[in-house]
Amino acid sequence: MSRTPILSLDPTTQLPDRNLALELVRVTEAAALAAAPLVGMGDKEAADQAAVDGMRYALRSVSMDGLVVIGEGEKDEAPMLYNGEHIGDGSPPQVDIAVDPLEGTTLAAHGMPSALAVIALSARGTMFDPGPCVYMEKMAGSPEIADLLDLDRPLPETLRLVAERKGAQVRDVMVVVLDRPRHEEGVRAIREAGARVRLIAHGDVSASLLAVTERSPVDLLWGIGGTPEGVISAAAIKCLGGQILGRVWPRDEQERAAALEGGYDLKRVLDRDDLVAGEDVFFSATGITDGDVLQGVRYPTAGGATTESLVMRTRSGTVRRVRAQHDRAKLRAVSGERF
Ligand code: FBP
Repeated sequence: MSRTPILSLDPTTQLPDRNLALELVRVTEAAALAAAPLVGMGDKEAADQAAVDGMRYALRSVSMDGLVVIGEGEKDEAPMLYNGEHIGDGSPPQVDIAVDPLEGTTLAAHGMPSALAVIALSARGTMFDPGPCVYMEKMAGSPEIADLLDLDRPLPETLRLVAERKGAQVRDVMVVVLDRPRHEEGVRAIREAGARVRLIAHGDVSASLLAVTERSPVDLLWGIGGTPEGVISAAAIKCLGGQILGRVWPRDEQERAAALEGGYDLKRVLDRDDLVAGEDVFFSATGITDGDVLQGVRYPTAGGATTESLVMRTRSGTVRRVRAQHDRAKLRAVSGERF
């Protein structure tokens, strides 16, 4: 008797290839689980070091030929995950890596919301290398308003256009801004235009994710923040949809000279595709402390822990929220005291 195959494969159909993001979730979970015991302990360096150790430990199991483009800094000051470090066993694919094992070191140290562990991967040579450019001006928003973003147009005018596009009043628009003296004038302009401001202490990756999410409490991210965080946000936004614009912002003459010497164009506005080119981008973030985007690490029982992660890939457009339950004793048994 002939049987009809349960799964008949059309030979022209492409088999799904490896989704590295599903391996990366273990990497950000490991960083978050390692940092979580230090949340609220007032020591941001120790929390960061724990996250780096956890991330590095889990990265060992990912088969790839990875080059850290955005890491913990230069080799002399960062013994692990330094810029230029090669990660993985050297087998394909060849990828650029951006890591922030603990995005929001102060947030974690003070037990404040929205600290994350983050990693992004894209094909080799496709990530913007911040070099000496520490800061950039940024603006980010959801797909609905992506074409309205502009770093040169006066902010009140952009806020008016955003409100119009959303069929709302300017007073309904909420802009998330890092609470810094350098933003005083911008914050005043936003308020005078009638829009509202959500000031955050740290963590503009999490804020960018919130700004590009439709129907979130925030419509726009604006202000000057870290360039590495801008590239990481761009990787996430390529998966989620929406737009981020960035322009490098030297703090002083020395930074300006270093940027010019490095060949950076200080006038150029970079969009998400300039910050991370290509359509094969993988992203994973795990919450360390509770935030608007992700729940942090929790300890529901003495030996257990839970994590929540956002795991995404550009090519397939899949966005997964992964809630995981961990057995801390078993993790410790395989990895030492790390978790
Ligand atoms: P860390 O995790 O390195 O502490 O950075 C947090 C952060 O708030 C980023 O989210 C942001 O882009 C940057 O610092 C802003 O820099 P600064 O605190 O110097 O204004």
